[in-house]
Amino acid sequence: MQKKIPDVLLRLMSDGQFHSGEAVGSALGVSRAAVWKQLKKLEDLGLELESVKGKGYRLLSSVDILSVDDILLALADVIDGLDTVGLPVVEVVQEVDSTNAELLRRLVTGVVVSGTTLVAERQTAGRGRRGREWISPFGKNLYFSSVWNFSNGAASLDGLSLVVGLSVVQALSELGVRAAQLKWPNDVLVKNKKLAGVLLEISGDATGLCHVVIGVGLNVKMQAGESLGITQAWTSIEQCLGVKVDRNKVLAVVLVRMQANIKLFEKKGLSAFVALWQQYDAFAGEDVVVSMGDRQVFGVAKGISDNGELLLDVEGEVQRFNGGEVSLRRTL
Ligand code: BTN
Repeated sequence: MQKKIPDVLLRLMSDGQFHSGEAVGSALGVSRAAVWKQLKKLEDLGLELESVKGKGYRLLSSVDILSVDDILLALADVIDGLDTVGLPVVEVVQEVDSTNAELLRRLVTGVVVSGTTLVAERQTAGRGRRGREWISPFGKNLYFSSVWNFSNGAASLDGLSLVVGLSVVQALSELGVRAAQLKWPNDVLVKNKKLAGVLLEISGDATGLCHVVIGVGLNVKMQAGESLGITQAWTSIEQCLGVKVDRNKVLAVVLVRMQANIKLFEKKGLSAFVALWQQYDAFAGEDVVVSMGDRQVFGVAKGISDNGELLLDVEGEVQRFNGGEVSLRRTL
């Protein structure tokens, strides 16, 4: 595992300005000779560092560091006036294999308060749906997971992942990204490029008290050339908006929307969201193919059922699809 970078160093360098070796050394409380060893850790994270004689060191682009304080401030701002929502517990880590995996481990070894959110600057083994990797470069995007406890078993959770995808789209709209759409079950797309993905993992008693780890990967600052091998077409909030955005603020807006929607989902189920989900459906009325292993079914996408199943009109008859191994794409 990458050695933790002192927060003071990250903060100092995050502005993208030059800082002399002396200034870095005194901020860190180390000798000038030891400064380079510390700065090297920034490069090890994939951040580009420049060193200029007489000026010092700077990061080639500024980084807005995730911080619990800034997230809580942004949360308080967003929550203002929404008395149904309380402040969630939020933790920031510089690096973890996967925020989902970490919360699942904590659930095995102890109690995790419902609503707890873990957000990482980078993931070394980020998990995507259907066994894929979620590439998670440092400081570029949001990689976070929240634990939610549900008392009525896993069956009551049908459709929750759709509600989470919808929450992300609503939050994006609040942030000015109004073209975001949903691809069943929970991919978030803008002009057919992926902006966010959602991965739910469940632990506990499938018939009683169970814990859901809701993982969200949301591309925020990534620019062309920084994709590090992402194979599907992607975009980011900054690409969509053409201006810089603060990840702390984005996270706060998403968390508040998600929390309010999950509370409504607990009371009313998915039916309270179906009409809204369909408004954002990227494939509604389009010719699509549904693949399950070797099997393929061609039809016209007809939105979702009250249980979150994908509805497909196959030669006049509506068929329903569910499950993690189903994938959907447009027919050419
Ligand atoms: C997808 O394949 O579309 C789902 C991607 C989910 C990625 C997020 S990033 C935070 C959380 N931790 C993980 O390891 N995965 C999810």
